[in-house]
Amino acid sequence: MSSSAETVHIKPPRYSIEMINELSDLARKTAYRWAVVQPDQPSTADIEKLVARGNTNVVIQFGFIAEGKNLAHIGQPSNRCIKTCFAPPLPDEVQTFYKENFHEYFIKPWSRVWDAPTLRWFSQSVQDLMPVTACKVYKIDGRAVGLQAEFPHTDAFGRPVTQIGWIWIRQGLPKEDRASIHNAVFSDLSSRPETRFQAGIHLFNIRSRRFFSKLGFQPLCAHVYLPSLR
Ligand SMILES: CC(C)(COP(=O)(O)OP(=O)(O)OC[C@H]1O[C@@H](n2cnc3c(N)ncnc32)[C@H](O)[C@@H]1OP(=O)(O)O)[C@@H](O)C(=O)NCCC(=O)NCCS
Repeated sequence: MSSSAETVHIKPPRYSIEMINELSDLARKTAYRWAVVQPDQPSTADIEKLVARGNTNVVIQFGFIAEGKNLAHIGQPSNRCIKTCFAPPLPDEVQTFYKENFHEYFIKPWSRVWDAPTLRWFSQSVQDLMPVTACKVYKIDGRAVGLQAEFPHTDAFGRPVTQIGWIWIRQGLPKEDRASIHNAVFSDLSSRPETRFQAGIHLFNIRSRRFFSKLGFQPLCAHVYLPSLR
């Protein structure tokens, strides 16, 4: 491995907690931007071990991939859930909503797993991508209950994808409302059968991993990187 910033593709072997730890150490000592390993599904215990070990400046993110035509049907259709699409450039109020939503439901809940510079890097990335980001806002009875943000990107092997940069579904809603949002997200993505979607899901975000798996996404690789080198 050279000491200049580079991408390391490792496949096989497959993901293991030892490998993630080794890659994290190497990323700190050398200067590669990120590595790609083939993931198995890590357990909650693995995640706790990684957090306990203090990998707070290393980001471990799975690239989950699906084509619109191969998605699995989820939820129940209902006309209560109304979708509004915003193309770039996003109106100011949508940008503000997105930034606040991301802060509330991503930065705040996961602040224990990363250090402050890494958290700032995440917020800055959202800000930097605003000019190319499209958003779908889902509402029920006039109240925002879902947000989906997308931008053009590439997968770990350089192939073009539509990146689902952020998805949020309000918790605590009646079961039928939640089912109608799930269905609205499914309908939105499956209405683009030829599009290859990628969701970047953090190692520890079990709920999100389950959600995307249920929708038919498959993990393609795990990215291990130091935001300071990107
Ligand atoms: C990720 C998210 C969009 C999924 O939507 P959702 O409506 O919560 O999805 P579901 O209710 O289908 O839950 C997904 C799975 O997580 C499970 N789950 C629920 N609570 C959980 C918890 N506390 N821990 C782990 N899994 C949990 C559910 O049982 C379900 O699994 P199952 O289908 O096998 O039963 C939503 O939880 C969310 O907005 N999270 C906060 C923002 C976020 O992290 N976005 C993802 C960025 S990549």
